[in-house]
Amino acid sequence: MPSPPRTGERGLRSLVAAATMIAALTAPLSARAETGYDAWLRHAPITDAATHARYDALPAVVVAVGDSVVLSAARDEIVRTVRGTLGRTLRVDAAPPREAAIVLGTLRALKARQPAIASALRAPADLPDDAYLIQSIAASPPRLVVTGANERGVLYGALALARKIDLGQPIAALDEKQLPYAPVRMLDHWDNLDGTIERGYAGPSIFFEHDAVAADLTRVRDYARLMASVGINACSINNVNANPRVLTSELLPQLARVADAFRPWGVRLFVSIDFSSPQRIGGLPTFDPLDARVVAFWKKTVDGIYRAIPDFGGFVLKADSEGRLGPSAYGRNHADAANVIARPLAAHGGLIFYRGFIYDHHMDWRNLKNDRARAAYDNLHPLDGRFDDAAVLQIKHGPIDFQVREPPSPIFGGLEKTNQVIELQISQEYTGQQRHVCFLVPMWKQVLDFDLQARGPGSATAVKELVAGKTFHRPVGGFVAVANVGRDRTWLGHHLAMANLYGFGRLAWDPNLSSRAIAEEWTRLTFGRDPAVVETIVDLELHSWPAYEDYTGSLGVGTLTDIIQVHYGPAPASSEENGWGQWHRADTQGVGMDRTVATGTGFIGQYRPGVAAMFESLATCPEDLLLFMHHVPYTHRLHSGTTVIQHIYERHFAGAAEADDFVRRWRTLAGRIDEPRFEEVLARLTYQAGHAEEWRDAVDTYFFRKSGIADEHGRVGAGPPPGRIEAESMQLQGFTPVDVTPPEAASGARAIRCAAARPPCVARFRYTGAAGSRDLAVRYFDPSGGVARFKLRVGGQVVDEWLADDQLPSSKLDAHTSSRRLVSGIGLRPGDEIAVEGTPDASDPAAVDYVEITTPASR
Ligand code: GCU
Repeated sequence: MPSPPRTGERGLRSLVAAATMIAALTAPLSARAETGYDAWLRHAPITDAATHARYDALPAVVVAVGDSVVLSAARDEIVRTVRGTLGRTLRVDAAPPREAAIVLGTLRALKARQPAIASALRAPADLPDDAYLIQSIAASPPRLVVTGANERGVLYGALALARKIDLGQPIAALDEKQLPYAPVRMLDHWDNLDGTIERGYAGPSIFFEHDAVAADLTRVRDYARLMASVGINACSINNVNANPRVLTSELLPQLARVADAFRPWGVRLFVSIDFSSPQRIGGLPTFDPLDARVVAFWKKTVDGIYRAIPDFGGFVLKADSEGRLGPSAYGRNHADAANVIARPLAAHGGLIFYRGFIYDHHMDWRNLKNDRARAAYDNLHPLDGRFDDAAVLQIKHGPIDFQVREPPSPIFGGLEKTNQVIELQISQEYTGQQRHVCFLVPMWKQVLDFDLQARGPGSATAVKELVAGKTFHRPVGGFVAVANVGRDRTWLGHHLAMANLYGFGRLAWDPNLSSRAIAEEWTRLTFGRDPAVVETIVDLELHSWPAYEDYTGSLGVGTLTDIIQVHYGPAPASSEENGWGQWHRADTQGVGMDRTVATGTGFIGQYRPGVAAMFESLATCPEDLLLFMHHVPYTHRLHSGTTVIQHIYERHFAGAAEADDFVRRWRTLAGRIDEPRFEEVLARLTYQAGHAEEWRDAVDTYFFRKSGIADEHGRVGAGPPPGRIEAESMQLQGFTPVDVTPPEAASGARAIRCAAARPPCVARFRYTGAAGSRDLAVRYFDPSGGVARFKLRVGGQVVDEWLADDQLPSSKLDAHTSSRRLVSGIGLRPGDEIAVEGTPDASDPAAVDYVEITTPASR
């Protein structure tokens, strides 16, 4: 309930009331739409009277000292927050009035224009850029001052104040000082100019469409607001596999529109570039970084950009990697390449982020000394000290590629005279592609907190300190994440995935925040303050990465997904015997990459001695990285006494069971959160639980076939589990059996597909168990390229029907498209006929793998 207006404010209230109503009705960011679009900036009404009362003394006026788009954004967000949460509309004044007021302005502006306020501030000296102070000044009239060294700092302070109100936190007698941990806090996007997104899982680009910048940039503006609210100050908008057209004069005015959309929210625009641009769009016969004509091309191009976009941030460059051209074409090195572009950028205060993701994807897999993990260090360490200050190496957190578990890249600890930033990935390329919930903050924190002993044993040089530039006093450093948001209303395609976007921003601002604190904050802002909701969602988020690791691949085994294409479902054999180098080397005796110095690839020797010694020894190597560092027999005993193979079976069952339990836990929130988001998350979690079973069965079957060692508990290697009826064993009408590739993607390696001239096809069997309530799971395939229809009949009655329309990332019958339809609580009697009917559509053949009947409690 809004509090009653205080004396003296009634006139003001009535004056603005009409305007408020209109504004509320037309506000583009409706707090009550609950589509997920507003993310954590819902500014939902505070309905609890005691919490509401905390804000009775909140001033009724807000003043921005100074005139800029950034200050206006800051002020307007405070107005929007108070209106949404408290139902009051703050009056916007040009100068501090005689009554209490919230005052926003840089320290410099306050000193020049409001010296009384400036002098009342406590300890304001020497704030770095983007830092802020929020201070209550008890003078008469009272002031709630939000200030910083620069306007972005004021904006962040205003947004932090808004967050406090959104969280229902007290704001009386505030005295807060917040400094960002590092200057670079950036999001990258792999958007193509045609509007598609490489490794994006939430619809088309918000930045581009039809080979141009999008006509309507509303989403971009709203995204910039989200970024600012968690302290992100830079954003690169196009694919690192860059189209050279991005630097043409045709695109420049369009890019300037994006910069305009970012500017009020303090976000600087970056673009990814193609290193061969001097040749591809510059008309030169060369792109040799030491050629004078190429030097001139980069200078002219950069100067031209700054004329159009004076606050342009700079470039991101992927060179000599995965087919991208780079300096090696001319026998030049990466410092030559980075510096030729860094120099003209430096003249304007810009930066080039030179990606450390440099490796050869044609490596000979037969040579056991070859190792992709070595690549970044081997390529970049010899060049330490040769990069200009406007060049920053952007290094993926692990030495491979965003796997569910990797050690920190050793290059972080090897660079002393080079700027570096860490690259994380919010887009869940290898961690479930936003169809699976996988809260990555705990994983990121493990990497950031890892002590690389870069100044000698016991020197406590955590990755976060190294990348922030603190350890070796570098001028630039920080945090980058690949976000790949899309036009889906939820931005990332899964409401719970937004915790990663939020969490990255919060960690980049302060990597010492705990995962739990971040998850709690995000949940309160996103779903409200009901303790049951907060507890359930936080718990689910915190368990999601361990569960995902368990059912996809533990012990640091590396990727067991399809490495060559979509990186989604299980395909353990696909990463072997090819040049991409993400090998796990599973053979009949054992598994794991031997990266030791003694007998392996020598990768471990790239760490400083104390760290290397820990990884080198089987006794001290952390077991969650065992198979990343060592090749061991399946019978190797872990510290727990369990063998590696049994551990694999155990963890896959445990992980899938946990994913199943996520559904149960989520259901307890029915009625406690809005229905659309409740149902959408429920659908995703239900799908995830089904796909986790597919992961479990595929990986366990693969390792059973390799090792020949069955599960001690009879779950793997002893035929189909009780209650599972293979489709190919049913009585078939129109369906024909088919071999599935890879074989472990289907139970018994086979499925059935409908090939009848006159569908539907029918597969039937008789139930032989005891009478009682049962759950029926139909495992079917949902390939792209058509929308097949299915019906499930029990004793002639249709108990369920559904469409295979989930847009999964494969057109084949494989582990990406294997899906589960669950029908709960059917009363079965012995002798009941159970029939699955399938009607194909286009290239979707309505394929079925099996039906599994379980008692509800046994699932
Ligand atoms: C991964 C990803 C590619 C991407 C590359 C990169 O390999 O699958 O799509 O281009 O990383 O980071 O450059």
